[in-house]
Amino acid sequence: MKNYIIADEWSIIEEGFDPHYHQISESIFSLGNGRMGQRANFEETYSGQSLLGNYVAGVYYPDKTRVGWWKNGYPEYFAKVLNAANWTIIDINLDGEQLDLAKCEVISFRRELNMKEGYLKRNFRAKTAGGKEVEVDAIRFCSMVDDETAAIRYTITPVNFSDAITITPAIDGDVMNKDSNYDEKFWDEVSKANQTDGGYVVMRTKKTGFEVATGMKFSVLQNGQVVEAPIEAIKKEKYVASKITLQAQQGQSISIIKYVANLSSQNYQPENLVEQLNDTLNRIVTKGFDTMLAEQAAAWAKKWEHNDIIIEGDVSAQQAIRFNIFQLNQTYTGEDDRLNIGPKGFTGEKYGGSTYWDTEAYCVPFYLATADQKVTRNLLLYRYKQLGKAIENAALLGFKDGAALYPMVTMDGTESHNEWEITFEEIHRNGAIAYAIFNYVRYTGDESYLADYGLEVLIAIARFWSQRVSWSQAKRQYVMLGVTGPNEYENNVNNNWYTSTLAIWCMDYTMQVIEKVKASASEKYAALAARINFDEETETYRFKHIIQNMYYGYDEKLQVFLQQDGYLDKEQILVKDLPAGERPLNQKWSWDRILRSCFIKQADVLQGIYFFEDRYDIDTIRRNFDFYEPRTVHESSLSPCVHAILAAKLGDEARAYEFYLRTARLDLDDYNNDTEDGCHITSMAGTWMSVVEGFGGMRVRDGKLSFQPFIPEKWSSFSFHIGFRGALLNVKVSKDGVHIKNASATQVTVVVFGNEHLVEANGEVIVKNS
Ligand code: BGC
Repeated sequence: MKNYIIADEWSIIEEGFDPHYHQISESIFSLGNGRMGQRANFEETYSGQSLLGNYVAGVYYPDKTRVGWWKNGYPEYFAKVLNAANWTIIDINLDGEQLDLAKCEVISFRRELNMKEGYLKRNFRAKTAGGKEVEVDAIRFCSMVDDETAAIRYTITPVNFSDAITITPAIDGDVMNKDSNYDEKFWDEVSKANQTDGGYVVMRTKKTGFEVATGMKFSVLQNGQVVEAPIEAIKKEKYVASKITLQAQQGQSISIIKYVANLSSQNYQPENLVEQLNDTLNRIVTKGFDTMLAEQAAAWAKKWEHNDIIIEGDVSAQQAIRFNIFQLNQTYTGEDDRLNIGPKGFTGEKYGGSTYWDTEAYCVPFYLATADQKVTRNLLLYRYKQLGKAIENAALLGFKDGAALYPMVTMDGTESHNEWEITFEEIHRNGAIAYAIFNYVRYTGDESYLADYGLEVLIAIARFWSQRVSWSQAKRQYVMLGVTGPNEYENNVNNNWYTSTLAIWCMDYTMQVIEKVKASASEKYAALAARINFDEETETYRFKHIIQNMYYGYDEKLQVFLQQDGYLDKEQILVKDLPAGERPLNQKWSWDRILRSCFIKQADVLQGIYFFEDRYDIDTIRRNFDFYEPRTVHESSLSPCVHAILAAKLGDEARAYEFYLRTARLDLDDYNNDTEDGCHITSMAGTWMSVVEGFGGMRVRDGKLSFQPFIPEKWSSFSFHIGFRGALLNVKVSKDGVHIKNASATQVTVVVFGNEHLVEANGEVIVKNS
């Protein structure tokens, strides 16, 4: 765990430059706008350790699978998020000496990610080996208003010299993915050009043929005045730059404003890319840096109006929750149903792909409550559109008749993952996709989604489960063999309680939805059944038979659900008895040792209890929590939030807070020692859930929002915004009670501590603590 980020309510701040933290900071200070994003690489050359990262949403490359031992059914390719053209470069040369913080004495250094207004700012003073001292101020952002654009203002002031300074803004398409399986480069050059005040590079991905045009225009100012300096155009393979040399005067600043646009062939015809790129660049140049920056602040202010969580009395918790919300909004804006939320967003390459079950299980609740309902609908439609591929994927593994198995990791619907125990066995992901449909409808009341799209997905998933279970003659029950639950520290187990519970729920829910759609849209139902050859009588007969005869492990003595067959045969050791030096297990133990141990990577049985909480009485929840949590190492970032919510439900406020801290500052404090690879974007939605569903106790039941809040001891109050069926609520919890304000013209009934209250249009309700 690190502790170098300075606490501040609205900003992430690093003071002093420690190269050891640089790659962590490159992740933490990342920028994005849903369409593109980048790690916080320096503009000027940096020869120290750094992970270069510029990404364009939806642009990927299927890297040929590399495994030690090929297994039938493995996908041939792993779709990777691509490191794209680097547009941040502004190289600085001080009369022959390159400015490079790895080679300078860094006198002072400060970087700040301003989350309120959405920009990254850096200020430093450095002295070169030759004794030249400069002060630099750099500010940049990815525009939330015009999401194909970005801008940088880079100001350099010579502190102790007057001499030539050469500034070279560039676009470099000659980049590589660090995780390239065969050390290949994934981009070919299509075209490039230098222009008087800029240049561009058009690159095409190998295999997938995406074209991305990245261009810049710039202006240079000396002492605040635009200067026309001679420009030397530089062109190399996949690279354009403009070299500008100015005679600098001691104490007088030189600024370059670099305007950038990044356009992809997903949105334009390839032959029009360059023209569109120039139009876009001209548009932002005309607007100007200051206007763009002001618009950026306004766009973020609007986001915060619906997203912000205010924590009073704990700056570090305040900073952390805003960081999580900020990064989620930088990653996904919900405007394009071809995009999704990668576990690393725009902050790193690790994990490839963009879509995991994380989206449905963790991100959907966040977007449901903080964004327009169409945002979550787009996330669901993304999966709807990939249904055909999920059916093909299942067919590859021997399933038939329209059964669908959604991929573990994907970009375009094709499975990308290639570890047999996950690709073939971690099938609970299919259930999460069904659960998200249920969750969306429960939250929004939008039942039309079911008839139009949801039911088709549900039937395909239910068909999969009905084929995936098998009949055990010995038990005279259905069993689910050879699976991996969310706890990936167990593979190829039988009867993982979570997977079986979710599978049976899917079949049951599908049948409920069939009845609903038959009643509300019988013609649509008939058309769908005919189109997908759904033989309702026979297929639902099988669903019912499985539902009624499914086997679930249960231990009578402990009275807990059994994570999987044989779990109690393992030596039962608790995490607290593990020597600290042996953790994280995934970095310290051999895999077989992990598999044989009782240690649990992340919520598994407890994930099921979280999903289906209403089915279980509080004692059942407590027994399972008390049994499984002490065996859980939380080595997935997705783990602490579910535990925080359940601990809150159990009234264990101290533990709920402890888990919250672990998820909220996971990246800021580099808790798992892996933030340098990128931030854990999807688990950030879990942090939000810990506050709203955990401390706020928010649930949606019978079409109503309910709250059962408590306030962590350290805080004096916390408040959050919730959009619900047209109403916009601000819920503030303080030591005195709960204050709910409605900032909309829609009245809404809420339940607080079990009692109903009407919150009128633009009205408020105060529930005092008794
Ligand atoms: C977790 C998975 C998760 C993936 C991506 C893994 O470490 O075990 O549940 O889907 O990370 O976040």
